[in-house]
Parts: sequence; structure tokens; C-alpha cells
Amino acid sequence: MASAVHSLLVCLVLLVSPYLGCSYHTSYTQGGRHYVLRSNRDPRQPKQTPTCSSAHSGPSSSQAAPVVHRLSPCSPLGAARNQQLEKPSVADVLHRDALRLRSMFQEHNHGSPSPAPAPTSAGGGLSIPSRGDPIQELPGAFEYHVIAGFGTPVQQFTVGFDTTTTGATQLQCKPCGADEPCHHAFDPSASSSIAQVPCGSPDCPFKGCSGPSCTLSVSTNNTLLGNATFFTDTLTLTPWNTVDNFRFVCLEAGFGPGDSSTGILDLSRNSHSLASRAAPSSPDAVAFSYCLPSYPSDVGFLSLGATKPELLGRKVSYTPLRSNHRNGNLYVVELVGLGLGGVDLPIPRATIALGGTILELHTTFTYLKPQVYAVLRDHFRKSMSKYPVAPPLGSLDTCYNFTALNSFSVPAVTLKFDGGAEVDLWMDQMMYFPEPASPFSIGCLAFVAQDGGAVIGSMAQMSTEVVYDVRGGKVGFVPYRC
Ligand SMILES: *[C@@H]1O[C@H](CO)[C@@H](O)[C@H](O)[C@H]1NC(C)=O
Ligand SMILES: *[C@@H]1O[C@H](CO)[C@@H](O)[C@H](O)[C@H]1NC(C)=O
Ligand SMILES: *[C@@H]1O[C@H](CO)[C@@H](O)[C@H](O)[C@H]1NC(C)=O
Repeated sequence: MASAVHSLLVCLVLLVSPYLGCSYHTSYTQGGRHYVLRSNRDPRQPKQTPTCSSAHSGPSSSQAAPVVHRLSPCSPLGAARNQQLEKPSVADVLHRDALRLRSMFQEHNHGSPSPAPAPTSAGGGLSIPSRGDPIQELPGAFEYHVIAGFGTPVQQFTVGFDTTTTGATQLQCKPCGADEPCHHAFDPSASSSIAQVPCGSPDCPFKGCSGPSCTLSVSTNNTLLGNATFFTDTLTLTPWNTVDNFRFVCLEAGFGPGDSSTGILDLSRNSHSLASRAAPSSPDAVAFSYCLPSYPSDVGFLSLGATKPELLGRKVSYTPLRSNHRNGNLYVVELVGLGLGGVDLPIPRATIALGGTILELHTTFTYLKPQVYAVLRDHFRKSMSKYPVAPPLGSLDTCYNFTALNSFSVPAVTLKFDGGAEVDLWMDQMMYFPEPASPFSIGCLAFVAQDGGAVIGSMAQMSTEVVYDVRGGKVGFVPYRC
């Protein structure tokens, strides 16, 4: 019933998507299906290049920092490196997802919170990446960025953010290696508010530091990569959203992320993370929330300590946070059902919920247990039987060729969580179009079968504000927020 009401509401909003819009189509949702129609607009009009104009019209200019996609015209990284502007191939995306999942699930299996590819596990649930980190080496490893300021006066950098693995905010700092570009590195000596964390203090997660400061020399293959040192300093997300004495680890020479960003804000559940350290003192506030933009030309947001959305009159549905005994860094929720075309799929709740569900920012597709995926796929295929099938794209095994059509529709997927929270996926959140210029091409169901718990990737989270009320023990979803 909720689904029917939702469809009715969405039906009133005829959506012209800004990014896919260059192919002249309109889309809307009705009766549990997403429709795409070729539009009458003159296809000979020159393609519009996305501009950064929306950056200043986001929902939140004071309390939240703008989140931009790596390919956004608003991203400083786009200008920094031309090859960054290429959309990764589906093979690259699947490979990146697979590495990320392997590192997450190895953590589960071995009971160790450090990702396996990292050369150094420093204790305290913290791992230090290196040049050899296979995920960072891949194209578009960190798809979404914010600009954050560190120190006094503020030094601004483009950084990624992660809820899953890192265990501490990591920043590339000066001194840099001899042959490395250094203009994207934080200079601790230029900040008047910086302080070192003493070795042996409860705030120092390195058990093996030597000397007075919380420093670890990191080497691989007997080659010194550089020092990792904990500092505290002021973090400025926006002029109205700052955190004093914010603790992060400075990575010297040789650690730089492969994508010319400066580091990564850690929003994990680890006690050293930004989310834990910046825990709101007000019971009316949540730890953090983010909204990933649907298109590279759009802007999302990341906020810390924002007011609970329900107190601002927004429609939010919550699901309880579960604890993961093997990896305390993870926020685990329970996916308990799937809807397709407004109808609940026949999947036993115990089957789908087993193993928990992780909301993941650096995995693109959504991963379901094989027996759960099979039910979704079979019902989806049945509902799509009139459309020409296309060959699979790697693990995406349910693809259609919409090239010659003037319109098509797909049954909408709804993610249903414990406690009644639901997330209705738009066309672009559930279908992957390798040629983003037009949906009248090949389109694949953006779900993949894998053993282990479910992982909700970044595609499925786009345009929804995901609210982490850590104190309240719940995660909320606010639809259509960016
Ligand atoms: C580490 O050393 C081994 C053996 O000397 C070599 O095969 C390997 O490529 C080295 N790895 C790196 C990342 O340099
Ligand atoms: C790294 O740390 C070691 C020991 O703490 C120190 O001797 C060395 O000078 C540091 N390296 C740099 C580049 O600061
Ligand atoms: C999709 O269909 C078009 C025309 O119907 C055809 O030319 C094209 O080769 C097909 N592509 C694939 C991958 O099947």
C-alpha cells in the first residue's frame, strides 16, 4: 500500500534527469514501474556540457559540506588529472567492488579489523594504506569527495569519506617524498592549533610507537614508506560545522591516495573515527548524514551533527543498527525483504536477513546472497520478458537491449529493512547503463550474487539522505534529498 501511494506521488513529478537528459528522454514512475520515453526534443541540439552551477543551490550551504562526484565539473580532481574524467568500464567497477568486498569479508572471517592488502596493521582497529593498496590504485577508487579544511589558518583539501574500513581519518602531509607532488599535502608546521598525540596516551592507537609522539614508521619489503603520526587539530567542514581537537593521522611521503585527493575522512564506528569523535552533544542531533548525488553534475552533501530530520518535518524511516561482533568498525543493518513492482518478493525474512547488511560507499553495485538474488532476478526477468535480452556484462547477468525502442519500463525495486524502513530505487539506482549518454542502449539490473551478507552499494544510495543516528542506535533514510 505504501508503495502504491509512493508511486502515485512520484507519478505527479515528471522527472527529466539532468545527466541522462542529453539523450532527450523523460522518465516517471507509475504503478510500481519506471518508464522511460524518448522525448520530442530536437536531437540535433548540441550536447550540453554539465556545469557546476548546481553547486551553490544544494539543500544545505551552512551545516553541510557539498559532496561531489569525481567526474563532477565541481570536483577539483577533475581539473587535476584528465584521466580521472573517464568513467570506469564495467569490468573496472566490478573488479574494484570485488577487491573491496574481499577486504571487508576477510575482516569478518579472520576477526581482524584491518583490510588484508594493507601492509601494516597498527592495532586499535586501524590500518594504514600504502602505495600498494589495490583499491586505491584503481580508476575512480573513491568516487565521492568533500572539501574539508584542516588547521588554523584553514588549509583546504579534497578528501574522500568512508564508513567502512579505515579506522582513522588519514591525511597526506608534508614532508612529501622527493619525487612527489606536494601541493595537495597538509602542512602541520603551518597550523597554530595543531598538537601531537603523545605516545602511550589512550588516544594513540599505535602500540609500538617509539619516542614522545604517536608515530609509526611504515615500511613494506624493508623499504621505509614514511611516518604515520597522530595529530589533533581543528577540522572545518563548513564555517558553521567545525570540530576542535579533531584527531587524524598524518601520512608522510609515499602514502598519497592514487587519485590526487589528499586523504579520507573516516566515518566508521571505530572509536577513533570522526563519527565517534564528533558525536553530537545534543539529543536532537545525529552523528552524521550524507546524500550521494545521482549524476556527476549534481551536488550532494555530508553533514556532521545535523538536526534529526524528523524535527525538521522531513519524512524519514529508520532501521535499527546491529552490532557486528567480528568487526566493530562496521554499521550493520538488516535488510529483511525486497519489493519488485510494488509487490513483496517471496523471500523468507530469515534467509535475507542472515549475516546482516552493510551500507557501503565504495562498492558500486548491490550484492545479495545467491538464493536471494535468484528470486529477484527470476521475477525481474519474468516481468521484462517482452524486451530483447543482451549478453551479460561480467557478473551483471540480467541485461536488456533498449537500443531500438521508443519507450520501455522496468519494475521498481524496493529495499525493505527491519523496523519498516523502505528505500524505493529509481531507474538509475537499480539499472546500470554502461553508456550513460542514453538509456536507449544496454541496461543491466545492478545487483550481483555473492556469498556472505548483503552489501548495499553507492548506486542504490544515490539521492537518498542516509542518516546515522549512532546514539539512537539507528540508521534513517530520507528520500529525494539531493
Ligand atoms: C617485495 O619483494 C618481493 C621479493 O623481493 C618482490 O617480488 C615484490 O615485487 C616486492 N613487492 C613490492 C610491492 O615491491
Ligand atoms: C620518522 O620517525 C622516525 C622515528 O620516530 C624519525 O627518526 C624520522 O626522522 C622520521 N622521519 C621523518 C621524515 O620525519
Ligand atoms: C542492440 O540492438 C541493436 C539494434 O536493435 C543492435 O544493432 C545491437 O547490435 C544490439 N546490441 C547488443 C549488444 O546486443
